[in-house]
Amino acid sequence: MGVRPMRIGVIGASGYAGLELLRILAGRQDDEVTVVTSRQEAGQGLTVFFPALSKVANYDSLAFSEPTDLGGKADAFFLATQHGAAMSLVPDILASGAKVIDLSADFRLNDPLNFKKWYAEHTAPHLLPEAVYGLPELNAEKIKTARLVANPGCYPTSVILALAPVIKAKVVDFTQTLIADSKSGVTGAGRGALLSNSFCEVQDNFKSYKTVGHRHAPEMIQELGKLAGFAIRLAFTPHLLPINRGILSTVYFRALGQPSLEYVRELYRSFYDRAPFVRIRPAGYDPQTADVRGTNFCDLGLYYDSESGLFKIVSVLDNLCRGAAGQAVANLNLMEGLPETHGLALPALRP
Ligand SMILES: NC(=O)c1ccc[n+]([C@@H]2O[C@H](COP(=O)([O-])OP(=O)(O)OC[C@H]3O[C@@H](n4cnc5c(N)ncnc54)[C@H](OP(=O)(O)O)[C@@H]3O)[C@@H](O)[C@H]2O)c1
Repeated sequence: MGVRPMRIGVIGASGYAGLELLRILAGRQDDEVTVVTSRQEAGQGLTVFFPALSKVANYDSLAFSEPTDLGGKADAFFLATQHGAAMSLVPDILASGAKVIDLSADFRLNDPLNFKKWYAEHTAPHLLPEAVYGLPELNAEKIKTARLVANPGCYPTSVILALAPVIKAKVVDFTQTLIADSKSGVTGAGRGALLSNSFCEVQDNFKSYKTVGHRHAPEMIQELGKLAGFAIRLAFTPHLLPINRGILSTVYFRALGQPSLEYVRELYRSFYDRAPFVRIRPAGYDPQTADVRGTNFCDLGLYYDSESGLFKIVSVLDNLCRGAAGQAVANLNLMEGLPETHGLALPALRP
């Protein structure tokens, strides 16, 4: 087990993922947040900026600082920054002996050329081989010994968890392209004001966006390809839902042979038997975002459509919690030798 109490830094604490980290970390009375950064809000009191956090943990005593000279200020850092920032900050943080959980995409793609294609030239490619993809259901053992964890994207978490059991069991007919049709709430785009995310543009409206070429597709293809053992084909379409939090993905695949739905259900049950944060919903209950709001759960619904011959897996999670901060805290738990669930007993905010 790591040092207790642990000092924790949240880099990019003025954003939505940072705020969600602070909400969850407040429940860890054995640890203390010592650093919160924001370039735009440097000097500002944390709870002046986020009054919702006042009288919570030690947050009234914290002020935002610049994300500089971070080494020595915490034992573990969460990086909740925009893509491109982590790869310049992480080398110094690791050199100081601290552990890192990066919520951005900077360390998710293994191949620097693939990263360049989708994002930018990687400035710390030497660290890519040691970065562990932080999906506890697949990589718990590697996460336990990692010093750098690449926290998965929110859409990839929902899609990979929906497909992992059948890909691992070699039940999927890969001659057919896999299809993932996903919808996300508006917080998925972060806190920065964008016209396309403003209330009047989003409420009472529904649309796809980045319908071709969303950056999360290569991440899904990479990780699902590792499970399959070869390159897979996946068509991914994201949509913008007029809700704050939540992702619902419907994933379609054709099976090899003719397995029954009950057989496939059993594959999921045994694959996630020991996973504390995956719930297989019973037949007749459709997974819904309200059941996972503010939680670290991913709920899965399993269906067979005899008309089309396709299996349909519906996957729901909270993009800010399971899709970002909650999963990041679960990863820290594993890195520290703690139960994955430590500080994450968060029932849904329902209604
Ligand atoms: N929102 C989600 O549902 C979600 C889910 C999964 C993963 N993520 C990932 O988590 C990260 C944060 O997302 P978010 O939604 O919280 O974004 P956000 O609301 O826009 O917040 C970004 C934060 O990072 C800081 N920041 C931005 N650029 C920086 C830089 N170059 N150097 C240092 N700090 C920088 C910002 O503060 P200053 O600009 O003041 O420094 C702010 O605190 C992103 O990489 C995102 O892709 C988000």
